[in-house]
Amino acid sequence: MKIVHIGSEMSPLARTGGLGDVLEGLPAALAAAGHEVSVVLPCYRGLRAAARDTGVKIAVPLGGQTVRAEIWECRAPNGVQVFLVRADGFFDRAGLYGEDGRDYGDSAERFIFFAKAAVELARRIVPAPDILHAHDWQAALVPVLVRARRLPFRTVLTIHNLAYQGSFDSGAFGLTNLPGEFFSASGVEFYGRLNLLKGGLLYADALTTVSERYAREIVSPQQGNGLDAVVREHAAKLTGILNGADYAVWNPATDALLPAQYSAGAMAAKQACRDALLAECRLEPEPGGPVLALVSRLAEQKGIDLLLPLLDRLLADDVRLVILGEGDPAYERELFIASKRHAGRFTYHQGMEEKLAHLIYAGADAFLVPSHFEPCGLGAMYALKYGALPIARATGGLYETIQDYDPVSETGHGFLFYDTTSEALWDAIIRAKQYFADPVCWQALTQRAMACDFSWAKAVPAYEAVYRGVK
Ligand code: ADP
Ligand code: GLC
Repeated sequence: MKIVHIGSEMSPLARTGGLGDVLEGLPAALAAAGHEVSVVLPCYRGLRAAARDTGVKIAVPLGGQTVRAEIWECRAPNGVQVFLVRADGFFDRAGLYGEDGRDYGDSAERFIFFAKAAVELARRIVPAPDILHAHDWQAALVPVLVRARRLPFRTVLTIHNLAYQGSFDSGAFGLTNLPGEFFSASGVEFYGRLNLLKGGLLYADALTTVSERYAREIVSPQQGNGLDAVVREHAAKLTGILNGADYAVWNPATDALLPAQYSAGAMAAKQACRDALLAECRLEPEPGGPVLALVSRLAEQKGIDLLLPLLDRLLADDVRLVILGEGDPAYERELFIASKRHAGRFTYHQGMEEKLAHLIYAGADAFLVPSHFEPCGLGAMYALKYGALPIARATGGLYETIQDYDPVSETGHGFLFYDTTSEALWDAIIRAKQYFADPVCWQALTQRAMACDFSWAKAVPAYEAVYRGVK
């Protein structure tokens, strides 16, 4: 099949989180299974240098204006063909979505423009693609445009996170140039606003989300972010497919970003990575307790609020803590202040740092994922592969990737907690520390964690079934 993925991130070209990882791993896995796959991405700052102009220019109507898109092209490091929608006024900026914790004021213009340009581009690809596979709200207008214009594509929309919907003032509807009847309950209107994700939910031929558990969660009012009734109405076309981990990138046995490589059968170098991490972060060496880590967007979803009240208690003990993340300036400030208070035991790195992230997964003993909700949670998957045992809230995809340690049956490879309270997180941390003190037990846990296999190849048949179902 010929499949065009359309989304706003693709690792390592442009990413803020797991969406980028999926748009790297899934297209490559589909291509390996014999499909013809490409990705359409905005041409963000810095991407032009390694790209070439295809010469294709598209005049995109945007309300009363017409904005020109140039289509550039490059190969991702994994060989996947990437089309870049270039319009410097929209995408030649320091951030993907915003700067200093604030979204750009023209997000509606930018991504309505992107979706329209992507659809026009798809129309010019010869032979025509079978499937346009849109990801998240930034591309959710694609299925609406395809249906409104009766184009001969089948569309799939993947929901990576229902909390981000692309909701804008009703005035932004004009930018879509859709007929007025689309601004209604059976279109892109939701409670008087333009809601791009809702439009995609209605008009895509099939919907997927990134774990089976999350597919069940988002039909409930608690987790539906206001859209649960819409999701329920379209539940028949929704499939939960757990994301994969791209082990070409995330494998401690081959990871060139690490100072030393290791595997389940040869673990000595994990200790070297741990030492290197502590040195890199200017933390005191050789702690008696575990090295804990968190790598994440600092958004409300991620449960930083559960961790903050525990920092003083946690760091009173001989443990180390490394946090890498950026996002909400209030969390950034609090983490920074706490890191000063606990210098030597706790480091906070603000920023998006790929190499450091790899070293953290490798050097950590345990990996914190206290999320309020988590559609999939790729960080936890990577942590397992690197032998950093997850301490995580049991929600969404984390239910499917992490098995709680049961000392009676000697099964499991992580520490789950259920209540969204700091005390519940604390209990899980205490359990992890207790078993860390028993090296034989910890080693067995680590071995089980590293044996988990979440490769993308497992998800491919499920996506193929979805594609076949809409053809
Ligand atoms: P989400 O997509 O909600 O952000 P995931 O856990 O699915 O959560 O994916 C997060 C991905 O982003 C992981 O690959 C993680 O390593 C990476 N990541 C998050 N924050 C940073 C950061 N500050 N620096 C480097 N990588 C990061
Ligand atoms: C979203 C979710 C995360 C998921 C990622 C990739 O950002 O928050 O749980 O792993 O998308 O699908």
